[in-house]
Amino acid sequence: MLKLPGLIDLHVHVREPGATHKEDWDTATSAALAGGFTTIFAMPNTMPPIFDRDTLDLGLASAKEKARCDYAQFLGAGPNNANWDVHPDLPPRAAGLKMYLDSTFGELRLDDMTLWMQHFATFPKHLPIVLHAESRTMAAGILFAEIYDRPIHIAHLSLREEILIIKAAKERGIKVTCEVAPHHLFINKDLTGFQNLSGLSVGHQEVRPRLTSQKDVDALWDNLDIIDCFATDHAPHTIEEKDSDNPLPGFPGLETALPLFLTAADRGRLTVDDIVEKMYTNPKKIFNLPEQPGTWIEVDENAQYEIRGAEHFSRCGWTPFEGYQVKGRVTRVVLRGKDVYKDGKVLAEKGFGQNIRD
Ligand code: NCD
Ligand code: ZN
Repeated sequence: MLKLPGLIDLHVHVREPGATHKEDWDTATSAALAGGFTTIFAMPNTMPPIFDRDTLDLGLASAKEKARCDYAQFLGAGPNNANWDVHPDLPPRAAGLKMYLDSTFGELRLDDMTLWMQHFATFPKHLPIVLHAESRTMAAGILFAEIYDRPIHIAHLSLREEILIIKAAKERGIKVTCEVAPHHLFINKDLTGFQNLSGLSVGHQEVRPRLTSQKDVDALWDNLDIIDCFATDHAPHTIEEKDSDNPLPGFPGLETALPLFLTAADRGRLTVDDIVEKMYTNPKKIFNLPEQPGTWIEVDENAQYEIRGAEHFSRCGWTPFEGYQVKGRVTRVVLRGKDVYKDGKVLAEKGFGQNIRD
């Protein structure tokens, strides 16, 4: 039995409010516990998006009622809320600010760099700004970190050029950190080793950032020390939505991340210490999270099994890793002294989860 700290997932699409047919605070936090996470950060691209007092109150009210693990909610950067100095009480209630600088699922997208300037100038410096910014947009985001002399965190980077630029920026002392999603480390766009998707429609492969070439995947593994965090970008859509003519981008990930990384550790691709660093220590440091006393997870490192989406707590009912042979199963999760997950069952009540920014 392996005992690890309660893991932190910085990037979860909980889907509430507005799309609870895909997921809600109950199913997302159940999936989190089953995956070994005791804290999740919820993304703001909901319907409506979470970007001001009313929508933050709305999102946090659902979380308070239903969450079974601890959480924080991101605010989204939009065209009409680049004035955080006018509402100084709002940012400290949030995980941080999420800025969508490249296109993805949802309405939050900022093209106008003068709006980036206002968000960078007014969002408090001690709270992280997280950027969805790919390729050259990412380079522009790093320049903003330098100009405004404040930390930024790059979400789900996926390309060789991106990890190399981040490496260079870090060497120069620019305050940039980054996360990588499991699917960009374990799947490439040619689906090598991903044959299990063959039974599913091509829409199931849609994700933002897109799946990349093996050259990009290799560059991420070769620069593991530059990757601060692993974050799932858990982005559930239903099978019908993935099958449609206009398939929605996103993969579920909460229940598969740790088994995939433990399997990679078993094969010598990284160490268990690397996993703890990137799924607990660094997220905690970057986002300045409090201790969770009396909190740990237990893992049976020798349990071998095949991943089955139908057995998962996520409402979406599928996983891109269907049929993957993995080694390592979460058997028990203890959160603040209470057994919240044990032997396949979620034991935490709805509402047991706490807002870590309260
Ligand atoms: C995310 C979603 O569905 O909300 N989709 C995705 O492919 N990652 C949006 C996002 O994180 O960009
Ligand atoms: Zn996302």
